[in-house]
Amino acid sequence: MSGIPNAIKSWYFAERPKGDLDDTTLALRTVPLPELADGEILVRNIYLSLDATNRVWLSDWDSYMEPVRLGEPMRGFIIGEVVHSKNAQFPKGALVSGLSSWSDYVVTNGEGFQTYTGIAGLDLAEAFGILTVAGPTAYVGLVEIGQPKPGDTVVVTAAAGAVGALVGQIAKIYGCRAIGIAGSAEKCAWLTRELGYDAAINYRTEDVDKRLAELAPDGIDIQFENVGGDILDSGLKHMKNGGRVIICGLISTYNSPGETAPGPKMFRNVIMRRLRIEGFVILDYLARYPEFHEKLLGWMRDGRLKYRLHVVDGLENAAGALKLLYTGGNHGKLMVKIGDPRA
Ligand SMILES: NC(=O)c1ccc[n+]([C@@H]2O[C@H](COP(=O)([O-])OP(=O)(O)OC[C@H]3O[C@@H](n4cnc5c(N)ncnc54)[C@H](OP(=O)(O)O)[C@@H]3O)[C@@H](O)[C@H]2O)c1
Repeated sequence: MSGIPNAIKSWYFAERPKGDLDDTTLALRTVPLPELADGEILVRNIYLSLDATNRVWLSDWDSYMEPVRLGEPMRGFIIGEVVHSKNAQFPKGALVSGLSSWSDYVVTNGEGFQTYTGIAGLDLAEAFGILTVAGPTAYVGLVEIGQPKPGDTVVVTAAAGAVGALVGQIAKIYGCRAIGIAGSAEKCAWLTRELGYDAAINYRTEDVDKRLAELAPDGIDIQFENVGGDILDSGLKHMKNGGRVIICGLISTYNSPGETAPGPKMFRNVIMRRLRIEGFVILDYLARYPEFHEKLLGWMRDGRLKYRLHVVDGLENAAGALKLLYTGGNHGKLMVKIGDPRA
């Protein structure tokens, strides 16, 4: 059949990393395309989302979902086009998205997949990059869990990343003061000049503790935590009475071997400042995505939510690109373009 490949190329989990990801963690392999069974579809993948949690899936931690097992294809969110279908729910030509694998094509029974019919004013990369994980995560974490009030001081870590960039802007929409922490002068300038953050701290060149004392002299109402470690500790030290600490991510610990990264040294402030600390996993909120998308799209169309996409070309570059998330080499939502959106 024309347009149907005879083989599928995928990244496989080849060797468990002891710390940072290395060149032997994932391996690109080609296997013959299986015959489609009734109920199955063949998807030509277009974009793959790279997410900080990908590293967690490669660990043997007792986690929020099953890890990827050694020898299995690497897991990731994709959007692609149905090129062959034996499932009436997903006809040939439909765009579909779901949690799948790092592959150029995928055969699936469609379980957990959604049909994507397009969003006016957004191209496929924007819709996929912002609305699949980052946007809903920023919204749920800040609005539902953080419950921001006008005048609140909100501190966001990994503030120039996919999630963090949106959090500060949503904080501004809710009338808060937003302080971002990021790892370069360029990222800090982007936060304050383009995104409307009130202030930014470069954690690589500045003393975060001292800068928080200067920038939030009355204390922090909401710490939106994406990083953990020393940066979380600095936030805990400066929390206000009744503050909320939203544990969205702890990226600085994901490459730590073993189960135990050091806990916060300033944990006592949970009592001293009567804090609420709450973690969440966005996958628990999938049923409410239409509601979050409506909010986010409204702000995106009004120009109140800006973002950058960092698109790496080619499935063969996916494993190398994932490392960028843990070195700060990504500038915006990291994703891989696997195939042509218009093919
Ligand atoms: N709870 C959920 O459901 C959920 C969903 C999505 C994401 N998340 C979390 O949100 C966070 C951001 O994820 P993302 O996928 O959007 O990635 P991202 O923020 O676009 O990229 C990760 C950024 O983290 C920063 N970083 C990496 N290692 C660091 C370290 N050791 N110390 C300080 N900063 C470091 C880097 O920025 P700098 O250049 O500023 O260092 C890097 O660009 C992650 O912690 C992730 O686990 C949680």
